[in-house]
Amino acid sequence: MRLSISPSLLFGLLIFIVPIHGAAERSGRAATNNPLVGTIIWASFAIATLYIAGMMPIQKIMPNYTVDDYYRWWVIHLWGELTFEMFAVGVIAFFTVSLGLISHKTAVRTMVFELFLIMLSGTLGVGHHYWFQGLDEYWIAIGGIFSALEPLPLALMIVEAMKNQREQRLEGKPNEFSTVFMWVTGSAILNWIGAGFFGMVINTPTIDYYAHGTYLVMPHGHIALLGAFGYISIAFLYMTARAQSLAKGLKWDPKLSKWAFWFLTLGVLIFAIPTYIVGIDQAQTAFEKGYYFARLRETIEPMKNWLWFRLLPDTMMIIGGLLIFYDLWVKMFTKKKAITA
Ligand code: HEM
Ligand SMILES: [Fe+2]
Repeated sequence: MRLSISPSLLFGLLIFIVPIHGAAERSGRAATNNPLVGTIIWASFAIATLYIAGMMPIQKIMPNYTVDDYYRWWVIHLWGELTFEMFAVGVIAFFTVSLGLISHKTAVRTMVFELFLIMLSGTLGVGHHYWFQGLDEYWIAIGGIFSALEPLPLALMIVEAMKNQREQRLEGKPNEFSTVFMWVTGSAILNWIGAGFFGMVINTPTIDYYAHGTYLVMPHGHIALLGAFGYISIAFLYMTARAQSLAKGLKWDPKLSKWAFWFLTLGVLIFAIPTYIVGIDQAQTAFEKGYYFARLRETIEPMKNWLWFRLLPDTMMIIGGLLIFYDLWVKMFTKKKAITA
């Protein structure tokens, strides 16, 4: 049975919109008229509302697997790959302008083009999931084609990030926001590996037919979600912390953040190895014996050592997360480290 609305996540989403809207309100009409800020505000609104729409307990009225799973994919695809993606594009455009890396005009143009691609790949691309819960066959073609377009906006973002970084190096300016930029670049790269590469691996209908719901989907979902959206949020937190330290003339040490970055990044990349190996084996079982056998515990049992291997990357990711929490806590709230530079 599927999930209905998770109250804690809903609460989290609501407290996520409030400060964004509040900040825009305080900065007046000029900010809300700005397409970059407007995109961020509307995307945050869409993230909360689409989640509510997708998680409605419709199965209570209509207990049917197809109807039920249809809305589950709304949450996974329309929510994760459409509304979050719009938020990420808005934020990256906003960051690059705020850090003085590209002009506002270029950022708006690139962003609008990316939004157009996201609307296509996000809304029609959801079709790559529909066939597997019993919808018509033509969805395979529509979904396959349009979701193949999905990595395009992501690739554009990474090119933009790399170009900006080079420009800054050439200018030889000390980059006050290098910690923020490290997370933004990391986001673009992991987005490309997770969504672009691992997404494409499972995206062709013939492969997904056997790979559906197996471990082969795990490296994709985890790297794409953490890379694309997790790193953007972390970049936002560091942006706030750095702006505060500059405004108050506090010392800034990027060392711990770098350690956290590498623990988290290497962790999630190493995580892809065992899940990929188990996934290939599972997909092969689905190919030879059928989907039912692929989902049996006995199929995964011989691969137990690979599952235990996950202790290494999983621990690395937990350490990375704790380091970020500690680092930001010290930078934002501890007076001890507040030595004037
Ligand atoms: C940042 C963008 C993306 C995020 C956050 C994301 C996230 C996810 C997640 C969490 C799942 C697993 C859902 C589940 O099994 O319950 C999934 C499945 C899937 N994703 Fe993505 N994805 C992204 C982009 C893409 C792209 C660009 C493609 C294609 C090129 C793609 C193709 C697929 C396919 C085919 C599945 C279904 C696998 C199956 O049948 O079990 N995704 N995605
Ligand atoms: Fe999808």
